Amino acid sequence: MGDIKSENQLSKAARERLSALRADYDPKDEERPDEARDSYADVEGGIRLQKALAAAGVASRRASEEMIAAGRVSVDGEVVRRFGARVDPEKSEIRVDGMRVVTSPDKLYFALNKPRGVVSTMWDPEGRPTLADYTGQTEERIFHVGRLDTETEGLILLTNDGELSNRLTHPRYKVIKTYIAKVPGPVPHSVVKRLRAGVELEDGPVEVDSFRVVDNDGAKALVEIRLHEGRKHIVRRLMEAVGHPVADLARTQVGPIDLNTLKLGTMRALTSREVSELYKAAGL
Ligand code: URA
Repeated sequence: MGDIKSENQLSKAARERLSALRADYDPKDEERPDEARDSYADVEGGIRLQKALAAAGVASRRASEEMIAAGRVSVDGEVVRRFGARVDPEKSEIRVDGMRVVTSPDKLYFALNKPRGVVSTMWDPEGRPTLADYTGQTEERIFHVGRLDTETEGLILLTNDGELSNRLTHPRYKVIKTYIAKVPGPVPHSVVKRLRAGVELEDGPVEVDSFRVVDNDGAKALVEIRLHEGRKHIVRRLMEAVGHPVADLARTQVGPIDLNTLKLGTMRALTSREVSELYKAAGL
């Protein structure tokens, strides 16, 4: 080393290595006790963990560094405490406080408030209005998570994340969907009890996760039904079976995602937090 006076005298490869080392160097590393370091193996050519977290919308880069320093972030099952750790945002399994964070920039997640009269497909041979009329053009192709009847309005999720989509729709993962139905009233307590106990339909039993009467005034009642399965016309068939056929039906919630103030016929992107909550609800 003694003979080298300037970095310019180094070979190109050595200069690149030096610059990579500088980029990875964090003066705070020297002050940390050994147990604060970690055994996570960096992904070669990957991006810095705090950058991946910030790009996914989890928090600012600075706040992401604080989460890393506090031991709240793991990559592929290992708690990572270095700020410079390199990850592959497409493949690394990154978690904050145990909750999965999707860092892949090409994964898309949306919530749409589907109006009545719109078919739950992206294209219809009969030329009826479809979900695609409301989603517009997205960078990647997205697909609806399950379906709603043409005459049902409300929350439908759209994504290009196949694994999440499968889990949200398969009853095995017990992700609860919430519906509000207008039915002939009043709904007597005996019907409430029957529904809560579960009802036998011609294609098998329906397990009702919860049922409550929201409004029981006069000839019309409003009821809330929560189910973790999505057989065809399930809510309509269920209410028909107990003598209160559905006049209007809307889905208000899918797992942790709530329709809230989303206007009919509009779509919004889910936040990084909401995607993490969906992953949790789906057991991922
Ligand atoms: N149950 C129904 O009957 N219809 C829907 O659209 C959704 C659930």
